[in-house]
Amino acid sequence: PRNIYFSRHGESLFNVMGLLGGDSELSARGKQYARTLPLLVATHVPNAERLTVWTSTKKRTIATAKHLPNKKLAWKALDELEAGKADGLTYEQVEEQFPEDFASRDQDKFNYRYQEGESYRDVVNRLEPVLMDLERQQDILIIGHQAILRCIYAYFMNLSHERLPYIKIPLHTLIQLTPGTYACDEKRYKVDI
Ligand code: F6P
Repeated sequence: PRNIYFSRHGESLFNVMGLLGGDSELSARGKQYARTLPLLVATHVPNAERLTVWTSTKKRTIATAKHLPNKKLAWKALDELEAGKADGLTYEQVEEQFPEDFASRDQDKFNYRYQEGESYRDVVNRLEPVLMDLERQQDILIIGHQAILRCIYAYFMNLSHERLPYIKIPLHTLIQLTPGTYACDEKRYKVDI
């Protein structure tokens, strides 16, 4: 594909409260980002009307894409890394309730699998069909989640499993990757809300 575009969903109520996972709605700032997104996309994406928008099945990505006039497709495979027993907790609560898990995640974040949940390695595996499709397509904008976009970014930028779980994918930023021979050229368009 020529360019790949992606953005995290707008700030969610769980983001505001510092809670993991869930299926919360957007915050007021998140809704503001959703309203700004059509202009941001139209400003930076040539032939923006040709884009197809891929979201997860979670409310926060669908609500972020809501005002975009484009065709949309919701993929279950794009849902956020499943935090299992840690879902709905803060990082502090995870540390209190599952101290050993917290330590082992710190030691090997790529391979650590949440109890009744997933690891980054699991996510990379479940994303394979999405990535195969993405390689064949043109004009895709993904509205996704932090862990998912780290995996997609690492795939196109050839980043190691060690670095992948620490890639910074900030909120309210449209990222453009242009695949080249070895790595991708990258541009980031941030909105201040
Ligand atoms: O905090 C937002 C979030 O998307 C959580 O839902 C998810 O568990 C987390 O980020 C992934 O980031 P990390 O792997 O660094 O905990």
